This record gives sequence, structure tokens and C-alpha cells, in this order.
Amino acid sequence: MNANLVPATSEAVARAARLLRGGRLVAFPTETVYGLGGDATRDAAVAAIFAAKGRPRFNPLIVHVPGLVEAEAIAVFDVRVREVARRFWPGPLTLVLKRREDCPISLLASAGLDTVAVRVPAHPIAQALLRETGKPLAAPSANRSGQVSPTEAAHVAAEFGNGIALILDGGQCSVGLESTVLDLSGPRPCLLRPGGVTLETLSEHLGPIPVGGGDLDAPRSPGQLSSHYAPRLPLRMDAASARPGEALLAFGPHPLPGFAEMLNLSPCGNLTEAAANLFAMLRRLDRPEFTGIAVMPIPEAALGRAINDRLNRAAAPRP
Ligand code: TXA
Ligand code: MG
Repeated sequence: MNANLVPATSEAVARAARLLRGGRLVAFPTETVYGLGGDATRDAAVAAIFAAKGRPRFNPLIVHVPGLVEAEAIAVFDVRVREVARRFWPGPLTLVLKRREDCPISLLASAGLDTVAVRVPAHPIAQALLRETGKPLAAPSANRSGQVSPTEAAHVAAEFGNGIALILDGGQCSVGLESTVLDLSGPRPCLLRPGGVTLETLSEHLGPIPVGGGDLDAPRSPGQLSSHYAPRLPLRMDAASARPGEALLAFGPHPLPGFAEMLNLSPCGNLTEAAANLFAMLRRLDRPEFTGIAVMPIPEAALGRAINDRLNRAAAPRP
């Protein structure tokens, strides 16, 4: 057991806030995935996040704040942006916006861009931590760069051991997929990463939204780099039958027969349930006794888009 993994009681949250104000890193739950947080206004804390994750410095971080007021101190808001923020915050939507001229966020967190990604998480522990710390927190998913995101505190402990000051255990993340990243820094919205808020829901408010990121040589969101969210085993999409030694990640009421092991994302075919199970099940199947992980087809709609996005990246050729 990891000595730094503690239940997220109010005392633990207070301790976490003290550590964060002292420039240390703390892992905490959000409704999407666990984040590895540090004071976003301190270069040294932000640099420590990049170092702990082994993350390339060109890939900027999301800055978390408790509400719209705190977000407006960081980024440029106009009427349109404010409307989107009011509708979707707190929640699993990250907005990429122009940095204010007096933006207090470390330039490292923006990776040299003139934009900043801002999110207001809904999770009560994340909210309590942000309010108690009184600082915006830079927090990427609390996994090593390129690995599967953590949806349980134990996943974080497994990747980092005692390498981070404190891991607040808030149980399983309810959404289970990272936030949707929407670029509103220019005249036209652009979807940079499908996630917890579906494209369908966003489009109801913003009209049709182009999906960015076709050009992998010049990704607008570096998280769009293809191989990502990868388990150790090879992943095979749209499986129709078993191959020797493979494990199956099933979806729906009729899992394919003949696999060495099978976990079902959602026996009743519910995409919300499938999203919540995705990363934990990928971790559970990622064992050396299997030759690979086969994945049954998942509908490309609503949360299915984000699920398929993560799975396609996990299946992409590794560098
Ligand atoms: O649900 C989430 O978003 C979680 C929780 C902890 O909040 N965080 C998360 O962070 O997934 P991370 O670092 O794993 O993913 C952040 C994504 C990356 O794809 C990054 O490239 C993009 O957001 N991003 C951050 N700042 C950006 C910016 N200024 N412009 C474009 N993309 C940006
Ligand atoms: Mg990540």
C-alpha cells in the first residue's frame, strides 16, 4: 500500500491544499479522471508536473479553477464564451481561450502558446481542493505520458508510487473519460478532443463544430498525437472473432466467444457505462499472459466518439 494514498477527508484536503501552496504536487479526483495537480502560477510546480509525467514540454496543461469568476481572471471571455461556460461548467468541458494580458498562469503550462486551457471540474473533492488552495491548479491526467488515464486512486499509486506528495482517494471517477477540449480562442469553435461532453450536446448550443486534429504533424492540441492512452499489449479494433491468446473488451449483450478472458464495457450497450469502465478495464486486461486486446465495435455517436478516439489512439502504431 502506498503511504501517500489517503481517503479524501476534509483534513486530507486541507493538507493537500497546504502542500500545493508550498509548491508540491497532489493527485486528486475529478469527475473525468484523476489529475496530477500543481500550482499553475508557479513555474517550478508546473515544471515538476512535466517531469513527473515524462511529458513533452510542447504539450500544454489544463488549468483548473473553482468557477467562472476565477476563470475570467486567467483568460479572455466574450459573451459567446461566457454563455458556453455558464451552460457547461462545472463539468467535463475544457475551453481553450486566449490568455489575458495579465494572466497569472505560468507560461510553461501554455507550452509557449498564447492560449490557455481552462476547466471547472464538478467533482466535490476537486471543488473543495481548489477553493481551499486558493490557486489555479495545472492538472493533466495523473498517468505517465502516453499511458492510460487513471480512474481510481490505486491507478495513480501504481504509476507513481511515492513519487508524488499526496494522492487523495475519492473513489471511482463517474465519467471515466477526459474532458472535451473545445477551442474558442478564434472566431470559429473547434473540437480538439472528444470527451465527457458530447459533440451532439455542444452542437445544440454552438451549431456545427469542426473537428480539429487531422494534421498530426501540426496538431492544434498536442494531445492529438496519435499513439496515446496506450496499454502495453497491442489493441485490435472492430474484432469479429477470437485470435489465439487474446483478451476481449466486449460491448453489448452478445460478447464474442472463444477469448482467453473477457470484460464487458456495458452488457446492456450503454455508452455512459462503457465510458466509465473503459480505462479500468483496459488496465485489467493489460496482462502479459495475453497476446493482445481485441475490442468489439462501439457506435460512433455521443460518448462513443470519445471512447473510439481513445481506443484508436491505443491501437495506433507506437513510436
Ligand atoms: O478531464 C481532463 O481534462 C483531465 C482532468 C484531470 O481534468 N485532464 C486532462 O489533462 O486530461 P491532459 O493534460 O491529460 O490533457 C490535456 C489536453 C491535451 O490534449 C493538451 O494538448 C490539450 O488539453 N491542451 C491543453 N492546453 C491547450 C492549449 N492551450 N491549446 C490546445 N490544447 C491544449
Ligand atoms: Mg492525459
